[in-house]
Amino acid sequence: MAFDSDNALNGTARINREKFPEISTGPVPIEPYISEEFLGRERDMIFKRMWLMMGRTEKIPNNGDYFVKVIEVLKTSIVIVRGRDDKVRAFYNVCRHRGTNIAAGHGNCKFFTCKFHGWVYDTEGHIRHVADESQFFDLDKSKLNLHEVHCELWNGFIFVNFDEKPRESLLEQLGELAVQLNDFPFPEMELAGSWGATLKANWKLFQDAFQEGYHVATVHSGTINEYFTGKRNPHARPASVRLYKRNRSLTFSFNPEFALHPSEKFALTAGQAISQGAAGLNIKVPGVNPEENELFSFDINAIFPNCLLDTSVGFYFIHEFWPIDAHTTRWEASTYFPKPANAGALISQQQSVALFRDTFREDIATSEGSQAGVMSGSLEEINFADSEVTCRHLYEVVTKLVDGEW
Ligand code: FES
Ligand SMILES: [Fe+2]
Repeated sequence: MAFDSDNALNGTARINREKFPEISTGPVPIEPYISEEFLGRERDMIFKRMWLMMGRTEKIPNNGDYFVKVIEVLKTSIVIVRGRDDKVRAFYNVCRHRGTNIAAGHGNCKFFTCKFHGWVYDTEGHIRHVADESQFFDLDKSKLNLHEVHCELWNGFIFVNFDEKPRESLLEQLGELAVQLNDFPFPEMELAGSWGATLKANWKLFQDAFQEGYHVATVHSGTINEYFTGKRNPHARPASVRLYKRNRSLTFSFNPEFALHPSEKFALTAGQAISQGAAGLNIKVPGVNPEENELFSFDINAIFPNCLLDTSVGFYFIHEFWPIDAHTTRWEASTYFPKPANAGALISQQQSVALFRDTFREDIATSEGSQAGVMSGSLEEINFADSEVTCRHLYEVVTKLVDGEW
C-alpha cells in the first residue's frame, strides 16, 4: 500500500477544523476540570436532567432480578429491578419509613425488606407490609410506595432520568447514535470481562483519555500502539469524527503495516479478537464503521454525558465515568463478546480481554498524573489539538449546559 504524505492522517491539514468550524480552537480553561462549584452546576444542569446509562438488561434477565447503582454525584443510590410483570423499573433505594437503603449489591428477590425495622416492598415498588402497623398514626399506605425514577430501555441498555419530567425522550437524547447503532448485534454478545477503579481524576479529564488517539504512540507503546500507528498514521489520528448536539462518534483505522504477533495469530485461528482488522478479517456488520473506512478498526460512541460505547466487529465495550467530586471519578468498564462456541473461541476472546485490561491500566496511570498537573496551580489553561476535537466537544457541550443553555 502506498502512503500519501498529504493524507488526513499524517499531513498538516487540520481536517476537523474544516469539518466543524463552529468548534473553538483556543486554549481551554482548567476550571471545569478542578472546581467543586463547577461540578455542582454539572450536577444540577446535567446529571439531574439527562438520561444516564445504567447497564445492560442481561444483568437482570429474570423476574425479581435487581442491582443497586450508587450515583455519588446525586448523593443517592437506586435499585433497578425486573418486576413480576417483566417490566424494568428504577426506584430510589430509600425506605419510606426512615430512609434506610432497602437493597445492596445485586440478587433476586420477591420482596425488598428494609433491614432497619422490616418494612416490605414488592418488586413493583408497592409497600406490602409495615411491622407493628397499629403503632403509627393515620398511616396512608397508598402514599408509601418506593419513589420511582424514570427508567427506559434502548437496545438492551437501561437508562434512568432523575428530572421530575424529562426534557427529552431517551430517543431524542440518543439522536444520531440511536440510528447508527440500532442494528448492532448487542443481544448476541455477553459479558466477557469487567473492571473498575476509583481514580483521582475529573470525570471529563478521565473520559478524554478514552476518546482520542494522540496518546496511543506514547502511553500504549507496550500494548496496542502498533495496531494503530505506522507511516500512514504515526499519531493515531481518528480516521473520521462525527460531532452531534451532545453526543459524538469517531472511527479509528488499523495500521496496515502491522504484523500479527504469534499470540494474535493463534487467537485469530479460533474466534474473534481485537487484531482481526489488522489481519484483514473485518467483515461488514450493521451499526459500525458509518463512513465505510477500508481499514476500519473500531468506533467510539460517546453517549453524553458519561458513557462511551465502543463498537467493533464481533465485540463491544462500555466505559462509565461517575464523578464523586471534582477530582475523583468512579470508572466502570466492561467488554462483551459473542458466546464462545468452544474452548478455542474462549481462548481467542480472552487474548483480547487481557489486552483491554493492560491497555486500560496504561490509561489509568496517566490520568491521575494529568489531574495532579491541572491542580498544581501552575496551569491556567490546557490545549487540545485538532485530533483531540472530541475532548474539546465534551468541554464545549458541558460548558453550554452549565451556563443554562439547553
Ligand atoms: S427505615 Fe426502613 S423500616 Fe425503618
Ligand atoms: Fe488509551
